[in-house]
Amino acid sequence: MDPGAVITQINIIQNALGVIATYLALTAYLFPKQANIFNDQEFDFIIVGAGSAGSVLADRLTECGNFRVLLLEAGDDPPLESLTPSLFPYLPRTKFDYNYTSRNDHRTYQSHKIGALNLTSGRGLGGSSSVNYMAYVRGCPDDYNHWARATQDSTWNSSEVFPYFLKSEKIESPEILWSSYKGYHGTDGFLKVTRENRPEINKYLKSFEEIGKPLVFDINGPSNLGYTPLLVTIADGFRQSTALTNLANKDRSNLFVRKNSFVTRIVIDEDNIARGVEFETEDKKTIRAWARREVIVSAGTMNSPRLLMLSGIGPEKHLGKFNINVKKNLPVGYNFHDHTISLISIKTEESSGSSPAPDPHTLPFPVFTGFIALNDSQTCPEYQTLIFVVPNDSEAPLQLCSFNLGFEDYICQNIFQAGKGRNTLYVNLSLLHPKSRGRVKLRSSNPHDPPVVEPETFSNIQDLHDLAKYVADFAKIVNSTYFRSINAEFVDLVSPMCKEWEFGSQQYWRCYVLNTMTTLWHYVGTCAMGTVVDSQLRVYGVRRLRVVDASVMPRIVGGNTNVPVIMIAEKAADFIKRQHSRHNVKSESWKSIFYGI
Ligand SMILES: Cc1cc2nc3c(=O)[nH]c(=O)nc-3n(C[C@H](O)[C@H](O)[C@H](O)COP(=O)(O)OP(=O)(O)OC[C@H]3O[C@@H](n4cnc5c(N)ncnc54)[C@H](O)[C@@H]3O)c2cc1C
Ligand SMILES: *[C@@H]1O[C@H](CO)[C@@H](O)[C@H](O)[C@H]1NC(C)=O
Ligand SMILES: *[C@@H]1O[C@H](CO)[C@@H](O)[C@H](O)[C@H]1NC(C)=O
Ligand SMILES: *[C@@H]1O[C@H](CO)[C@@H](O)[C@H](O)[C@H]1NC(C)=O
Ligand SMILES: *[C@@H]1O[C@H](CO)[C@@H](O)[C@H](O)[C@H]1NC(C)=O
Ligand SMILES: *[C@@H]1O[C@H](CO)[C@@H](O)[C@H](O)[C@H]1NC(C)=O
Ligand SMILES: *[C@@H]1O[C@H](CO)[C@@H](O)[C@H](O)[C@H]1NC(C)=O
Ligand SMILES: *[C@@H]1O[C@H](CO)[C@@H](O)[C@H](O)[C@H]1NC(C)=O
Repeated sequence: MDPGAVITQINIIQNALGVIATYLALTAYLFPKQANIFNDQEFDFIIVGAGSAGSVLADRLTECGNFRVLLLEAGDDPPLESLTPSLFPYLPRTKFDYNYTSRNDHRTYQSHKIGALNLTSGRGLGGSSSVNYMAYVRGCPDDYNHWARATQDSTWNSSEVFPYFLKSEKIESPEILWSSYKGYHGTDGFLKVTRENRPEINKYLKSFEEIGKPLVFDINGPSNLGYTPLLVTIADGFRQSTALTNLANKDRSNLFVRKNSFVTRIVIDEDNIARGVEFETEDKKTIRAWARREVIVSAGTMNSPRLLMLSGIGPEKHLGKFNINVKKNLPVGYNFHDHTISLISIKTEESSGSSPAPDPHTLPFPVFTGFIALNDSQTCPEYQTLIFVVPNDSEAPLQLCSFNLGFEDYICQNIFQAGKGRNTLYVNLSLLHPKSRGRVKLRSSNPHDPPVVEPETFSNIQDLHDLAKYVADFAKIVNSTYFRSINAEFVDLVSPMCKEWEFGSQQYWRCYVLNTMTTLWHYVGTCAMGTVVDSQLRVYGVRRLRVVDASVMPRIVGGNTNVPVIMIAEKAADFIKRQHSRHNVKSESWKSIFYGI
């Protein structure tokens, strides 16, 4: 196998899966039927985007029966390969992915074939929760205390958001349910959570303990540091995307789900009140829908700012370039950030045993995670590792490296070679709180043009130095007793790139990071609370318009982002319901007659 062959193989499998999806529509029975919407129809709320946030919000706003909600989603029902956990590598570069890429800055990501990132992002019911890697991580209490300070609103602090994590969760791990940690979990939410419990991970966990890293039974308890088995949003053999948990098998007469419906504009009147939206149907018709109460944008970190800017909300100068009429000058699109990772491979046991055929209903390999701080006085982690235990001669690392991540062939060959006759650990090491900030911009005023994404990774050089320091810290594992006994080896994935530096020197680690850096797809921050929206997620200066998704995070959480986004949606549903319980709203479609909007 080589990188070229692996990509050809993936294309063949993807085409086959595409054919199956088209002709058999195996998953369609699960998901809501296409709502029949005609022009100028009116709803209480219109939600743009049925992703992690939008699906949860639509579910919560319709459960009481008081509101009529229109949920507009650009993509379609998730396919079988989305529901089947082990098939996640086949989802990018299909119609369920926007296929966005970052701008090449000729400084970072130069060891990727395109000199930039493939910014995988889900397009379809469930959004990115239908294509993600299913890690269940909440982040650290201080992450939320930081939001509370940034917004000067204590309702975002750790003790106030904690109940919302529990509200959505349904923990199904017997180990946790029978432990003293049960109280840190929800048991009757919609989101089923299980725990990785394959025994292969135990010997590695012990080795991390030996080199001074704490072990924790459950990272969601009192201590937020240490190595632990991963919790995953996989249950009953299926991916728990929000499409499955919040939209499937729901037949609510007040919820209208319109798929293949691409919103091109928010309709905002002269008084800066959001009145409705315009969207395009699959047969390219434009339909206008009105919102009596609110328009809620949940289109994700790249598409929410894009839609706001196309509708006249954004940086004045930037919008001026495209002759977009400015409704409100706000720093929309700024503050983009993400978790940058360094890819690592460690050779472990020599193995001649052939590995069992993987179970399609779990992640392909045993997996564990670590949350580590180098500074002893820190209670929140500085870096996170996600570690797959890969059996010898597996093609999976080559596939992930070459197709999903798009690295240059020499790096992926190095990963593949490392696994010849050896088990390996395939590791992501992520810088949890980067200081660098990037930006999402419009490419043009055409709503079909992809956004320009400038990640500006390492624009604050401290981030590079920190990530290099963390990789060096992680690499110490090869000197633990067990790892020494099996002649474990930190694989020089970048060879021959960093030859001028001595292996293990500070310069070597920086060179290593620069050549193995990629994304964990945790984009956040482009419509941040405190600058674009207030702490109730209302857009400053425009009435009846909110943003609810990953883009509102003022600062990224120290962990994976899906569950924090679901928490944001749960919390937003509550304060939206509270605000609208007070009064009934009269129909306002008559306004269109007078204002012609
Ligand atoms: C490959 C990958 C792996 C990941 N792995 C993990 C993981 O293991 N654990 C974890 O916690 N997080 C993970 N994440 C991150 C996590 O999934 C995201 O942070 C989260 O899903 C973002 O939710 P959201 O609601 O902000 O946006 P999304 O879920 O992306 O939803 C946005 C929705 O809006 C729709 N939309 C956009 N524009 C329009 C428009 N104009 N009209 C109509 N609809 C529109 C989109 O089609 C999409 O359905 C991963 C992400 C990716 C991409
Ligand atoms: C992404 O690329 C794939 C492969 O080229 C294509 O089939 C798919 O339609 C693209 N997605 C979108 C949303 O255009
Ligand atoms: C969070 O804010 C509430 C008031 O809203 C307060 O009672 C609580 O002590 C705060 N918790 C933390 C951790 O600051
Ligand atoms: C590695 O794995 C393969 C298939 O899983 C097996 O056939 C092979 O003999 C293994 N061992 C070595 C040392 O290559
Ligand atoms: C360690 O953390 C403490 C508490 O946050 C901080 O005051 C200190 O500056 C940190 N030390 C270093 C070396 O970063
Ligand atoms: C680590 O992230 C990369 C992408 O950045 C992905 O290919 C890989 O599967 C991830 N590994 C784990 C253990 O999550
Ligand atoms: C990454 O982007 C390039 C250029 O657009 C494309 O050819 C490649 O297929 C993409 N890969 C993935 C996995 O999105
Ligand atoms: C392991 O220990 C040896 C000898 O003490 C040292 O030279 C080497 O740098 C260590 N390896 C790592 C990756 O820290």
